[in-house]
Amino acid sequence: MNILEIIEKKRNGKVLSKDEIEFFINGYTNNEIPDYQASSLIMAIFIKGMTKQETTDLTLAMAHSGEILDLSKLNKTIVDKHSSGGVGDKVSLILLPLVASLGVPVAKMSGRGLGFTGGTIDKLESIPGYKTTLSVDKFINNVNEIGISLIAQTMNLAPADKKLYALRDSTACIESIPLIASSIMSKKIASGAQKIVLDITVGSGAFMKDIESATKLAEEMIEIGKLANRETVCILTNMDEPLGWAVGNTLEVIEAINFLKGNMPEDLKQVVLELGAYMMKLSNLGENIEENKKKMLQNIENGKAYRKFIELVKMQEGDISYIENTDKFEKAKYGIPIISKKEGYINRIDASKIGKIACYLGAGRIKKEDKIDYTVGIILDKKVSEKVKEKEIIGYIYANDQEKSKKALEQIEKIIEIDNVKPKKLDTILKIIK
Ligand code: URA
Repeated sequence: MNILEIIEKKRNGKVLSKDEIEFFINGYTNNEIPDYQASSLIMAIFIKGMTKQETTDLTLAMAHSGEILDLSKLNKTIVDKHSSGGVGDKVSLILLPLVASLGVPVAKMSGRGLGFTGGTIDKLESIPGYKTTLSVDKFINNVNEIGISLIAQTMNLAPADKKLYALRDSTACIESIPLIASSIMSKKIASGAQKIVLDITVGSGAFMKDIESATKLAEEMIEIGKLANRETVCILTNMDEPLGWAVGNTLEVIEAINFLKGNMPEDLKQVVLELGAYMMKLSNLGENIEENKKKMLQNIENGKAYRKFIELVKMQEGDISYIENTDKFEKAKYGIPIISKKEGYINRIDASKIGKIACYLGAGRIKKEDKIDYTVGIILDKKVSEKVKEKEIIGYIYANDQEKSKKALEQIEKIIEIDNVKPKKLDTILKIIK
C-alpha cells in the first residue's frame, strides 16, 4: 500500500478501505506522510466525498491516533455535549453544572477558542484561580466527589485531528461534511464519551450556513455514532445572531452566573433546556423531554444549579468570591454605548461579524499563541425583531484601547440593521435529529 495509490483512488471517486484510511492517518500522525500529500488527499475527499462507512473508519482512526481517556473508573454512563461553535456561546458554562445538579455525571475536557468563536476553557480561565489543567486522576476524583469536572484538553487526544484541522484550515478544506463530522466525533470518542448530544449551530456565525447542510452533517454524525456504538442526538440551533446578550470572556461568565440565578435570555434558555433535557434522557434520568426541562428550571429556581457551579469553581481552586459578587471581576477601561441611529425594528445582527469585532478588541485569538484579553467584548441588549427608539442605548462595547473601541463602534453601527418592517424571528431550536 502506498499513499500515491490512495490519493489516486480517492481522486477518481473510489471508496477507500479501512486499511487505507488507517495507513493514511497513522502515516500522517507519525510525520511519514508529508503535508503536501495529505493536503492532496484531503482536497480529493473534499471534492469526491466519503461514504458513511469511510467517514466512520476515518473517525475511529483519528480517535485512536493518540490517547483515549478511560472513564470506566467512574462506573457511570458518560454523556458528552459538544457544540459546532458560535458567537456568545456560553452554553457549557450553564448547562453542565445545571445537569450535574440533576445527577448527570459531567467529565468534560474542553477546547480553547480559535478565530471568532470563543472556547469554554478561555471563559473559565477568566475566573481568578480556576485551574483548567488537572491530572486525570484528580479530574476523575472530582467527578466522583461532586459530579462534575471541567478541564482543558491535557492528554494527547486525537492528534491526527489536530494536524488535519490545521492543514484543512490552511488549504480551504474546512467546510466538508465528512471532514467536520469525523473531526468532531473523533474528539468525542477519544475523550471517553459513551453517548453524545451535539449542538449543531446554523447561520452566519456557524460553519453550517443553512438547515439543509446542517441536517446532512447531523445525519452523518448520528450514523458514525451508530457504527461506533455511541448513541448521538443532534440539536440544530440558530446562530444567525449572537447567543444571549454577551460576547467576550468575563462578560459571558457573568451572563452565565446571572442565568444560573434566574436571569435567562430567551434564546440561551431554549438552547440550554433542549440540550440538557436530552443529556438527562441519554443518562437514563428521564424519558420525557418536557418533564426534564421542568426539572432543570426547578434547579435554577431553587439555586441548586448555581450552587453546583460554585462547587465546581471551588473544587478547581477558583476564587468563588468573584462568582458571589461579579462586580469584583476586572472591567475593561472603556464602556462605549452603542446608540441606535433611528427608530425601527432590529432586522439583523450578523453573528460572525460581531464575533470578529470581539476578536479584534482582544476577546479571541487569530493565532494560537495570541493572548486573550478577558475583559473586552460586546453586550447587546436587543435581539432581532425587537423595537428600538431613536438614540436608544442598545448595548455597550468594552475595550481597553480607545482607537480600537472607535473602530469597533463604527463597524457595529453598520452591522446592526434597523428597518421599519418587523422581521420574522427565526426559531432558536431549528430541528432535532436522533
Ligand atoms: N469543529 C471541529 O472540531 N472540527 C471541525 O472540522 C469543525 C468544527
